[in-house]
Amino acid sequence: MQDLFSSTAPAPDLAYVEALKRSLHDHAHRYYVLDAPTIPDSEYDRLFKELQALEAQHSELITPDSPTQRVGGRPLDLFVSVRHAVPMLSIKTETDTEASGAQNFDTRARRELGLDDSAPPIEYVAEPKFDGLAMSLRYEHGVLVQAATRGDGEMGEDVTQNIRTIGQIPLRLPDSVPPVLEVRGEVYMRRDDFERLNEKQRERGLKTFVNTRNAAAGAVRQLDPSIAAQRPLSFFAYGLGEVTPVEAGGPEFGSHFEMLQTLKSWGFPVSDLVQIARGATELVAYYQFIGGQREGLGFDIDGVVYKVNSLALQRRMGFVTREPRWAVAHKFPAQEQLTTVLGIDVQVGRTGKLTPVAKLAPVFVGGVTVTNATLHNEDEARRKDVRIGDTVIVRRAGDVIPEVVGVVLPAEGADHAERGALFTMPRICPVCGSVAVREEGEVDYRCTGGLFCSAQRKQAILHFAQRRAVEVEGLGDKLVDQLVDCNVIKTLPDLYRLGLTSLAGLDRMADKSAQNIVQALEKSKQTTLPRFLFGLGIRHVGEATAKALARYFGNLDSIMDAPEEQLLLVNDVGPTVAQSLRTFFDQPHNREVVAQLRACGVTWAEGPPAPVLATPFSGQTFVITGTLPTLGRDEAKDLIEAAGGKVAGSVSKKTTYVVAGAEAGSKLAKALELGVTVLDEQGLKELLDGGVGLAAQ
Ligand code: IVH
Repeated sequence: MQDLFSSTAPAPDLAYVEALKRSLHDHAHRYYVLDAPTIPDSEYDRLFKELQALEAQHSELITPDSPTQRVGGRPLDLFVSVRHAVPMLSIKTETDTEASGAQNFDTRARRELGLDDSAPPIEYVAEPKFDGLAMSLRYEHGVLVQAATRGDGEMGEDVTQNIRTIGQIPLRLPDSVPPVLEVRGEVYMRRDDFERLNEKQRERGLKTFVNTRNAAAGAVRQLDPSIAAQRPLSFFAYGLGEVTPVEAGGPEFGSHFEMLQTLKSWGFPVSDLVQIARGATELVAYYQFIGGQREGLGFDIDGVVYKVNSLALQRRMGFVTREPRWAVAHKFPAQEQLTTVLGIDVQVGRTGKLTPVAKLAPVFVGGVTVTNATLHNEDEARRKDVRIGDTVIVRRAGDVIPEVVGVVLPAEGADHAERGALFTMPRICPVCGSVAVREEGEVDYRCTGGLFCSAQRKQAILHFAQRRAVEVEGLGDKLVDQLVDCNVIKTLPDLYRLGLTSLAGLDRMADKSAQNIVQALEKSKQTTLPRFLFGLGIRHVGEATAKALARYFGNLDSIMDAPEEQLLLVNDVGPTVAQSLRTFFDQPHNREVVAQLRACGVTWAEGPPAPVLATPFSGQTFVITGTLPTLGRDEAKDLIEAAGGKVAGSVSKKTTYVVAGAEAGSKLAKALELGVTVLDEQGLKELLDGGVGLAAQ
């Protein structure tokens, strides 16, 4: 009832407010840490608003651990330094990325503990080495009172305001926790959150972050907590700092693993990938297992950490300077390296697309030596602000092509005039001098030279001769370069006019190899309609479209003469493809190329037209990754295409299914990130058999 004599509302039932807060903490834990909410978001919001309303009327109810206090502090001028009650140590790093890296550590540990060969294996805990930044969370009487960065290990910075915004970090712990409890772990950014954040940055025309670690570090060191709140961070606990001693009623743990389980029960996120490993053999197995999972995880790791499990043994081993003898970080091969931009070249693709490519001082990254990295297009190159002479971060993860992720800016105050010029796409083709144009709404510039452009001619020949087109074995890029540069080949049919003499006359060409090429050319004349059609290199006509066209029309002449409306009846053919086909076959010189190829003896079987209605997979795009248990990649592809589906090379929002086999890498990761349905081989077969229950996307 309203108190008529006072302007403030009656004091609410404190026990009720307390219960409300507990309930909100509990639901936040289920949502953020366990990923298993038990109430709908709307119900959570309702409870949250109820608490907010009560606190608004009675400010004395606002406690630092209230669920309403995650965001709210004012921007700071600077972070306050704090001394760690227990120093934050670092770990010795094992850079030997072979199994011996794990063995060396085990050998050292056994020696230090005085164990001979007959003693049983040491029990370790093996954990991922999370790629974020170390954080110390101090709880007093179960309430988060301070979050501090590692700093130099002795002194860190107080970043409590920002850390409170992390949903996974409890603001309040159960009553059973010791009065003083410092939990240590890693603050990091999930890959999906990182991608979303960068997407937002791009939309707003702001600079993107180079990697998850930089993004996480930037968020933690944000002076304005409301900005930090928009940078989604996560947390994994992996250790302790100061804790109420056993004599004063603190907890007594026998092992590191037991301690982690307790932290989990108190509400902290502990990675499910943490495992007990006995002896060197199991450490090596863990290193390899996690290495295999690396690409598919939702977050970045840069290695694994091994820790002696028994806390008694840890105490016996002690420390060397700032590093414990009982732990080691075993790194994976780096996926990122620094290098210098030596130049920016512009390459011309088969369809005339101009691509800026950064020429780099060679670096070993992601298992290979990288000297080139694509900058994709002019906008991207300018947005990344990559200039000649810059130091850049190059990344190569899994089977993805190397990429320049960003520039390491020159030290502050360095003279900007000393940097090279901002990249501009040349307006003429660097190869043939034809005008390069960028169509309205397109990101790419294209050379308008067509087959007059030797770069396009080379690519067109290589495309025609590739395995999935007519296949001319042994006709590689070096040979094509020579043939085009010496003007031996001007158009595709010239390929079939190559004689032994003209081939053998080329530099570094042995008689035997010349003979092999002539034979391979002869063999390639017997082809199929889809291969030939795909080989012509018509823009937007990939293998799947070529197959669909061949199946629908049965013969080439019908395709060449079909009006757009008829082309549109083919599965998989939309307006862009139909228009591109028409444009191509409307050009007399393209029809001439086809006629001459036929005159040279290129043939294929032509069948009756088989106009097909929508097949079970029509309109669906599949990506195959990893090794399937029984089906070869091409087999799986054929099966999917026969059912009207399309097989693409990379995963995007448009992908309907990813079919993943053993050692699936970044494509699987991307699928999980984008929420694309993942099938194994069995799942694919069931889908093919059933033909029903297809994705509802
Ligand atoms: S334990 C005394 N465990 O690696 C050992 N550290 O120098 C203290 N890190 O910056 C650290 N994952 O932030 C430990 N599972 C893990 C870790 C981990 C990542 C980081 C840590 C620190 C560096 C160690």
